Amino acid sequence: MNIEAEFAKLSAVKPLKTNLSRELTVAVMGAGSRGNEYPAYGKLFPGTLRVVAVSDVNAYRRDRMGDAWDIPAERRFGDYHEMLEAGRNGKLADILLIALPDNLHFEPAMEAMRQGYDILLEKPMAQTEAECRALLARQHETGVMVAVGHVLRYSPYFRALKQALDLGLVGELVNIQHQEPVLYAHMAHSFVRGNWHDSKVTTPMIVAKCCHDLDILKWMVGKRCEAVSAEGGVYLFRSDKAPADAPLRCTDGCPHEKDCPYSALEIYDRKRWFMYVFDVPKDCSSEVLREQLEKTDYGRCVYRCDNDQPDHIVAALRFEGGVTCSFTMDAFTPWGGRRTRIMGTLGYIEGDGKTFTLHRFDTGKAYPWAFVPPEGDNYRESGHAGGDLALIRDFLEAVDTRDFTKLSSSLDASVESHLMGFAVERSRLNGTKESI
Ligand SMILES: NC(=O)c1ccc[n+]([C@@H]2O[C@H](COP(=O)([O-])OP(=O)(O)OC[C@H]3O[C@@H](n4cnc5c(N)ncnc54)[C@H](O)[C@@H]3O)[C@@H](O)[C@H]2O)c1
Repeated sequence: MNIEAEFAKLSAVKPLKTNLSRELTVAVMGAGSRGNEYPAYGKLFPGTLRVVAVSDVNAYRRDRMGDAWDIPAERRFGDYHEMLEAGRNGKLADILLIALPDNLHFEPAMEAMRQGYDILLEKPMAQTEAECRALLARQHETGVMVAVGHVLRYSPYFRALKQALDLGLVGELVNIQHQEPVLYAHMAHSFVRGNWHDSKVTTPMIVAKCCHDLDILKWMVGKRCEAVSAEGGVYLFRSDKAPADAPLRCTDGCPHEKDCPYSALEIYDRKRWFMYVFDVPKDCSSEVLREQLEKTDYGRCVYRCDNDQPDHIVAALRFEGGVTCSFTMDAFTPWGGRRTRIMGTLGYIEGDGKTFTLHRFDTGKAYPWAFVPPEGDNYRESGHAGGDLALIRDFLEAVDTRDFTKLSSSLDASVESHLMGFAVERSRLNGTKESI
């Protein structure tokens, strides 16, 4: 094998811009963070995608999207049931984007498939195995196209890693070590204080956050996952770890506030991180922000929340043919961005979520890979290392041409990694080894 020539193939990155035969219309359920992420494609590339209906119980977000896309009042819905009801007389758009909270994916997706929508369904697709299987059965029955928001599959970095494996650049794949470093403040924000703090209301951490990782591992290995076992739990964010004199909220004059890295005042007011949840300008005054911290869960002491999501998970995965992966999810890191080490019979790859290096045993050489966006392209404007907008590009192409193969994260392809996640959670909670 000519390693240099094969490795050079990895740098060919598909441009974000696409040409469709017509503009596709989109109805958005949930005009929050993710509900705005994908439609941004239509603003970057006019004539590709247009939002024509929106549903959100939050009037500010509903009208923000309604105004941005000139949506008439009768197409601005509150609760998503109103939008489903309106669709009974004929669908409102070509595509339905479901970007509602985790516990509101299954029901609208089932009904929307019946109404004939092609759907972009945010991950996790559903909250239980039975629901995942029911979604798949409905999709096969109706023949609509359903993409799951497994955005990492579309990022140039993971595409190049996958291609390197498919080209045999490490020989035969034997083992992968993969880490999802969540970042200490992101853990506190989303999984201790925020929307995903309760696994029973949403989904367990391994599904809610790490279904991306299990999906990427399954995709890279390209074989069926046969068995999993796992450990982990809530180490820090629990009431018995709280300083005795810490009040319920960081805004209640906590004596530890200045030294606590998880302080809400530090994370939101002084650092201005994760401001998108508050519906106030990022540069608002400290007084305005303080009001938000006093009335929402984001001001709560991290030791006194009703959280049950583990802050560390260690999982062992066995795939067909004896290929293995070890996966860790770690809250306590100073950065996010996945770290991956890939061991093959002829080579080794080490990557940090942005760049990677292949080390070949035969040539003794190292081959570095870094993403170079195509000239004049907009990849840098996309979240998840380019994955968000690349997913919507491929989905639009698939819908436009009715070619399902353009879609990497179809419902079929995504169900298995969800099943892996539920199995890892059973193993972690029950101390069992679970077959899939
Ligand atoms: N693919 C990814 O990488 C990724 C990243 C983050 C989140 N997500 C997933 O995307 C989904 C949305 O997450 P988000 O961060 O955008 O959350 P968000 O809270 O920002 O947005 C959800 C929106 O749904 C609205 N809503 C709630 N109940 C409703 C109802 N009954 N009817 C209509 N609207 C309702 C809320 O007001 C909110 O604006 C979640 O399932 C989440 O797990 C995916």
